[in-house]
Amino acid sequence: MKIKIFDDPMQMGFMAATEVKNQLNGKKDSVLILPTGSTPIPVYKNLVNMYNKGEVSFADAITFNLDEYIGIESDHEERYYNFMKRNLFSHVDIKEENINIPDSRTQDCEAECVKYEKKYRASGCADLALLGIGNNGHIGFNEPGTSFDSVTHVTHIAESTIKANSRFFASEDLVPKAAMTMGISTILSAKKIFILITGKAKHDILMKLISSNEADESIPATALRLHKDVTIYADREAAGLI
Ligand code: F6R
Repeated sequence: MKIKIFDDPMQMGFMAATEVKNQLNGKKDSVLILPTGSTPIPVYKNLVNMYNKGEVSFADAITFNLDEYIGIESDHEERYYNFMKRNLFSHVDIKEENINIPDSRTQDCEAECVKYEKKYRASGCADLALLGIGNNGHIGFNEPGTSFDSVTHVTHIAESTIKANSRFFASEDLVPKAAMTMGISTILSAKKIFILITGKAKHDILMKLISSNEADESIPATALRLHKDVTIYADREAAGLI
């Protein structure tokens, strides 16, 4: 696992976006795994700038989002489909049919997960995955204890994640309790992975991740130790004195 440390989230966002741009310029029909949350916002902002300057196109890109809440209203701004539209997709030339996000409007989320995994694998798997990380080490909504063999599945959101995500909702009670998420083995199928870690609050989990000697299911992100091309994109606040 390599680590790159940047002065601040905007610099992290610029450098990660530059890598995404290079990936798309090298292979126009790249398959990307994308996260939501506050950490990737500077990456999306920079990608929109690069698109506006004519430096990159998403016309042939295929994207798969990591996860989606279950039990959220279609027009809720925290529905991940709406988040992605607002922060990236509405501002670039991606084709609607190339956007993939688990659809939680369905009656049968289990079947949706099977369909999602199948479609993802049929795409040839991701050329590049961008991930965030939860304070408890989750990636996607793979909470501590999730099997490293997991594929896209329905999951319960951990109490600590509900608390952390309550900042995006009017109250903690309104945070959905379940989600669909790509599994750990789905994520590990990506050819290259960047995990974005910014802010002081993520310092402890970053230290746990880099000091872990082996993959341990109680800290889901340590599964990345099983992958040969992972780079941590951290900012100075998360990295501390490293
Ligand atoms: C969201 C996702 C989550 C977030 C994580 C960190 O699609 O996959 O694992 O990356 O909860 O969220 P932020 O960036 O808001 O701290």
